[in-house]
Amino acid sequence: MILRKEGVLHIELPGDLRYALETELAAISPKKLAKTATELSDRYRVGKLPVRKSYIESQEDVYAYAAFRMPATFAAVYSALKQVSEVLPDWNPQTLLDVGTGPGTVMWAADAVYPDINAITLLEKDEHMIDLGRKLAEHASSIPIQKAEWIKADVTGHWETSPHDMVTASYVLGELSEQNRNALLKKLWHLAKDTLVIIEPGTPAGFSRIKQARELLIAEGGISIAPCPHNSSCPMAEDDWCHFSQRLSRSRLHRQIKAGELSYEDEKFSFIAVSRRKGEAVSGRVLRHPQIRKGHIEFEVCSHEGISKRVITRKDKELFRKARKLSWGSVFPQSE
Ligand SMILES: C[S@@+](CC[C@H](N)C(=O)[O-])C[C@H]1O[C@@H](n2cnc3c(N)ncnc32)[C@H](O)[C@@H]1O
Repeated sequence: MILRKEGVLHIELPGDLRYALETELAAISPKKLAKTATELSDRYRVGKLPVRKSYIESQEDVYAYAAFRMPATFAAVYSALKQVSEVLPDWNPQTLLDVGTGPGTVMWAADAVYPDINAITLLEKDEHMIDLGRKLAEHASSIPIQKAEWIKADVTGHWETSPHDMVTASYVLGELSEQNRNALLKKLWHLAKDTLVIIEPGTPAGFSRIKQARELLIAEGGISIAPCPHNSSCPMAEDDWCHFSQRLSRSRLHRQIKAGELSYEDEKFSFIAVSRRKGEAVSGRVLRHPQIRKGHIEFEVCSHEGISKRVITRKDKELFRKARKLSWGSVFPQSE
């Protein structure tokens, strides 16, 4: 599912999810999907909910979301959870609660990173999303995905569930008011037995929501484990935003719709994972693509001392060998 092409990691959707999307969306013409997807992404770009109560309104919107955005959000979630698994290598969550589930993106990615998950609870307010999500899940090779419990609920209203090992909300906060966001974050943290992961688009607005969420969750007692290797206040400059980029291969369906365009796309995302567990001691996180120069590599690294430029030269031997394998989002190695 992860391929290295010319030094860049590409994510591919798992075969069963690719097949599920192609099968369930087969009845709609790629042209129609493309038109609806453009209208939908225009609505998200404007970023306001004018008269409408929701960005996604119709069954067509749901299909377009699944065709165009689910692969990209899958890649972002997968990449974020991989960072989590690197800093909590001994943690094997068994239960997952995901809110604002859409077509089930997070559970597919979480199942790929954490195959020990055996019970999944999903909360979503849109019944068309739930219908499609359930249909996609019927094609899963994973039993927990097939048996996931879908609950139709508005997360800003009254709902209850038991605590779960891992709790997630992906590309959801932006659809809620600040007040509802904060209340939801507190509730999700309360329901997280171990770790809560919040993912947003890698835009200034998405990062600003992540930054606020981080502050709130640390104040509630959370330990920031990824991407931030510390609980100190975020050192990112006001005019900058912390985000990562994940390349994903476009499926046949995706390429058909985007006729003639690239065979891959890069999804930019911001995220925060807070845990009740202490992660592995991490000296820093690589922000941005490393700059490979003659005889040395330059990195921008976030650590508890702030954001700084680090240079590793050939003379650093073992460290240089490790440094050549690092990419945007990697843990920065400790000098021995
Ligand atoms: C952009 S989609 C993200 C879907 C999925 N989490 C993903 O990453 O692909 C946002 C989803 O959140 C749902 N949503 C928005 N507000 C909600 C609310 N108040 N309660 C429950 N679901 C909500 C929408 O219906 C939609 O399915």
